[in-house]
Amino acid sequence: MTFEYAPAPESRAIVSIKPKYGHFINGSFVAGKKHFPTINPATEEILSHISLGGLSDVDKAVAAAQKAYTKTWSKLSGKERGKYLYRIARILQERAREFAVLETLDNGKPIRETRDIDIPLVAAHFFYHAGWADKLDYAGLGHSPQPYGVAGQIIPWNFPLLMLAWKVAPALATGNTVVLKPAETTSLTALLFAEVCQQAELPDGVVNIVTGDGSTGAAIVNHPGIHKIAFTGSTDVGKKIARAIASTDKKATLELGGKGANVVFDDAPVDEAVEGIVNGIFFNQGHVCCAGSRLILQESIADEVIEKLKVRMSKIRVGDPLDKNTDLGAINSKEQLVKIKELSAIGDAEGAERWSPQCNLSDKGFWFAPTIFTGVTQAHRIAQEEIFGPVLSILTFRTPQEAMDKANNTPFGLSAGIWSEKGSRIFWASQHLKAGVIWANTFNKFDPASPFGGYKESGWGREGGKHGLAAYLKTGKETGVK
Ligand code: NAI
Ligand code: MG
Repeated sequence: MTFEYAPAPESRAIVSIKPKYGHFINGSFVAGKKHFPTINPATEEILSHISLGGLSDVDKAVAAAQKAYTKTWSKLSGKERGKYLYRIARILQERAREFAVLETLDNGKPIRETRDIDIPLVAAHFFYHAGWADKLDYAGLGHSPQPYGVAGQIIPWNFPLLMLAWKVAPALATGNTVVLKPAETTSLTALLFAEVCQQAELPDGVVNIVTGDGSTGAAIVNHPGIHKIAFTGSTDVGKKIARAIASTDKKATLELGGKGANVVFDDAPVDEAVEGIVNGIFFNQGHVCCAGSRLILQESIADEVIEKLKVRMSKIRVGDPLDKNTDLGAINSKEQLVKIKELSAIGDAEGAERWSPQCNLSDKGFWFAPTIFTGVTQAHRIAQEEIFGPVLSILTFRTPQEAMDKANNTPFGLSAGIWSEKGSRIFWASQHLKAGVIWANTFNKFDPASPFGGYKESGWGREGGKHGLAAYLKTGKETGVK
């Protein structure tokens, strides 16, 4: 006998969403001129209207950040800056439920994930970097490393507040001020974060948030008052940014796409590997740059693993993101859904075999059932291109070397996973995989102390940990300090 799940909806009463938002510049909300709607992708309900920032808004934000940098923030000791970061971290914890519900409404990801993963990690990033603020001399970056000034930060829609935290926390800890632009479909938690900055009495202009689209992002990138750029998003836009700053002295970190290989050897604990495969690709609807979107299975165990994976996938609950029992929420936007459908159709056309469990998907909102493709070869586009959805491409191998060759055969190099009970095999494989982050017998584990970033077209530089601080600090000759 099986029991049905009773609905367990999280109340949305805790959030109050204004009908319209402006930008957050110099410590205050200022009205925008043009607006565009932001919707709940699970229902297509319009939640609010967001300002489309233009050149003059970016100009004002950069001026505010520059002034805050010279007049206030660069004059404070690391210890004083740290106090503000601790205060922000504590307020984020106090308001965690509000942030979790708002993120789920605006993004479509399950409340279970915003509540248990996104928001706790956001607070953890502020706590971690608060601790560094007065210890930068000991970060291994030489004596008295200095901030760049104003950082321009452009973030995507897949982990909206978490990507804000990855960018804002190290920038402030190292003494930079920021102009940040959230993604067009998910600006609401960044605007609520602006309220947290006010609540924490962060000096005006230290954090500025300008909302808008790609043109707003480009205005930030090209502004002469920006000294450092931090971007997370598509490889296409990353390349545009790299071209735009090529003839300037702007520094940049770029966190771009991925096509992560999850390699399962024949000695792996199969049931645990199946959990790891599911977490690797179905976490956050597969909207994860480091997703384990290619499963590379040893041929001798392939049938067993695929069979168990199908049983496990039949238990994934797809639906209302605010329901606490939901595992897989809504696809973030209509555009993204179209892209997932197009690439999956290419998988069919190229001869891979598609399988999804039976799912009742709502007519309203944007949905895609968890999907696997078997019979995928390295030449297939679904083995090479980032789908950024709940779609797994499965390839097989016979020898460990073949597994490594297949795993490394994409233009990306962000993440990889190894499943094996042999320590020696794990060490061997982790030395052969060209990926910035490698997990062994787990997947999608994040910690602010651990640097994150990629090889090849997955980007430049690292975020998080001691390595991430380097991106925000001038060292050696650059500082002018002898
Ligand atoms: P995108 O790269 O266009 O958007 C990311 C951010 O960049 C947004 O804030 C956007 O407004 C901004 N932006 C767009 N054009 C810009 C420009 N010329 N200069 C400066 N900023 C600009 O990503 P999009 O279109 O939302 O998604 C397309 C694909 O990109 C996805 O299907 C996925 O494959 C990949 N992607 C990867 C992400 C990652 O974390 N690696 C995150 C988001 C998307
Ligand atoms: Mg939205």
